[in-house]
Amino acid sequence: MKFMIYLVVLFLVLNIMNANKVAMANSLIQDSCKKASKFEEPHYYNLCITSIKQNPESQKARNIDELTVIGVKNAISNMTNVKGIVEKILKERKYKSRLSEKLLRDCSKLYSEGNDFLTKSLKYINSRNYQEVDNSIAKAGTVPRTCEMGFNGDNNQTSPVTKDNDVLFEVVTIPRSFNHDAHIVPRIA
Ligand SMILES: *[C@@H]1O[C@H](CO)[C@@H](O)[C@H](O)[C@H]1NC(C)=O
Ligand SMILES: *[C@@H]1O[C@H](CO)[C@@H](O)[C@H](O)[C@H]1NC(C)=O
Repeated sequence: MKFMIYLVVLFLVLNIMNANKVAMANSLIQDSCKKASKFEEPHYYNLCITSIKQNPESQKARNIDELTVIGVKNAISNMTNVKGIVEKILKERKYKSRLSEKLLRDCSKLYSEGNDFLTKSLKYINSRNYQEVDNSIAKAGTVPRTCEMGFNGDNNQTSPVTKDNDVLFEVVTIPRSFNHDAHIVPRIA
């Protein structure tokens, strides 16, 4: 009987501890997303919250660096998905012109480079080289913009992935803001 009571109490304590951990993670996410969206359009806050919470690891995040890692991983998966969309268009020859085909191939290459930068940023987070974290995520952030500019610049072509590139750009800026707010320009709370 005593042992049963012990088990029940242990179970309750563990549950409370876990609920406490989740609550702490969620308040970290909210605070960080609030800071990150300070100078952004209103929808950015919701995008930040939903995209970070999409990753179950976020419920265990204890500090801003762990949250940045989650944001970078989200960005990598987003970049990979958009690259997949572009490659499908190429494979199915759904592009509008030879020029458009060439531009899509350029974009596909850019997405790979973008993911290399994001992967590098994970190493920099590990070694707490926060300035390099900022630089490498920033470089990844130019990818969706450069891809779009190929179409809309001198070439006057319509990009089939404008919407995806817009979202991708924002998804990449989320971990950059986390890192920036926490380590580059620490704000006085
Ligand atoms: C990129 O991430 C956003 C936010 O999680 C999501 O809404 C969007 O569908 C993703 N795009 C792709 C192509 O995976
Ligand atoms: C760009 O493309 C649009 C639609 O195809 C066309 O109406 C317009 O004249 C083009 N502009 C230039 C500068 O080529």
